[in-house]
Amino acid sequence: MRTVVTGGAGFVGSHLVEYLLDQGDDVIVIDDMSTGSPQNLLALRNNPHLRVVTGSILDKGVVNSVVQGSDRVFHLAAAVGVRLIVEEPLTSLRTNIHGTENILDACRDHGARLLLVSTSEIYGKNTADRLHENSDRILGSPLLSRWTYAAAKGIDEAFAHAYWTEFGLEVAIVRLFNTVGPRQTGRYGMVVPNLVGQALRDEPMTVFGDGTQTRCFSYVGDVVPAMVKIAETPEAYGQAYNLGGAEEVSILDLAARIVKVTGSSSEVTLISYEDAYAPGFEDMRRRVPDNTKANNLVGFVPATPLDEIIRRVAASIAADAEATAEADALRLTLVTAPPIPAVSLRRA
Ligand SMILES: NC(=O)c1ccc[n+]([C@@H]2O[C@H](COP(=O)([O-])OP(=O)(O)OC[C@H]3O[C@@H](n4cnc5c(N)ncnc54)[C@H](O)[C@@H]3O)[C@@H](O)[C@H]2O)c1
Repeated sequence: MRTVVTGGAGFVGSHLVEYLLDQGDDVIVIDDMSTGSPQNLLALRNNPHLRVVTGSILDKGVVNSVVQGSDRVFHLAAAVGVRLIVEEPLTSLRTNIHGTENILDACRDHGARLLLVSTSEIYGKNTADRLHENSDRILGSPLLSRWTYAAAKGIDEAFAHAYWTEFGLEVAIVRLFNTVGPRQTGRYGMVVPNLVGQALRDEPMTVFGDGTQTRCFSYVGDVVPAMVKIAETPEAYGQAYNLGGAEEVSILDLAARIVKVTGSSSEVTLISYEDAYAPGFEDMRRRVPDNTKANNLVGFVPATPLDEIIRRVAASIAADAEATAEADALRLTLVTAPPIPAVSLRRA
């Protein structure tokens, strides 16, 4: 089986690539390394079944060359992260709409099956007790960049559904809720790696808003196998499936749990959304998934408890910090080591 993973050098993508290689697939990654990194695939660099193409999904030529001859595509490449979307609205819209259209066209033209990775953001400000796949979408103004990610992903889903209806493209959709685990970066506003990193450094933990907003975090290692199973179930074509965590937690409680698990002395500092992002920034108060549909189809259960997720994220951030410190120390030694006296290079 030859499988393309767009965004395969990103956080979720790199875990998916590992899983597919373990399953025996030949995998081609296409990634422009904008938020992803070759570092995320470092452990796989000698695997002969993996090919990494550095390129953009906005480049039709590159997209066609990797999809041609492939059996299926997992489409994860996207502009992701609240900060990035707010700071680069136009690039984000282009990537998330035109890029996805290129992938859909290539899959149709070359007869590849597709799993489109969407997001719980599409539900917007709907605070229902359990969001099911047909729940309403409640979005703010399209003039607020905050909502363009949700709008673009919603259009992606509509496109995918139309390709299924009109061309019979075998495409399924998954909507990930807040998914976390090793290799997720805090650079673009992801809350768990940010807070865990601050706790490990005993720095103030920056919580945006009043901290009473709630989320359900799921572990990437629980989500990835479910994504693959859904992609492999023909009943899923033309359908969307929520994949989210089980435990609802406020961001203030999350920070407290992180302090406890990491043994940190950090304290929480509240930062207004306006100071964190932009005037008029809106967030959603609550985001709770109903996973029944994915559970019925492929037995999806978000089994990893939150404290264990925090422990694993902390271990991976600590290991990265140690590797960086070792590399810095080595560089310092090389720079500051006295030059070898010329005489010692001569033969006696
Ligand atoms: N992590 C989450 O909590 C979460 C939640 C909902 C949905 N998702 C979805 O999962 C997918 C992966 O997200 P992630 O959390 O791993 O983020 P990520 O930023 O780590 O992954 C996105 C990847 O896409 C790549 N990319 C961006 N623009 C590209 C382009 N034009 N061409 C090629 N590659 C490009 C990036 O370099 C990166 O490797 C995204 O589609 C995202 O919308 C993630």
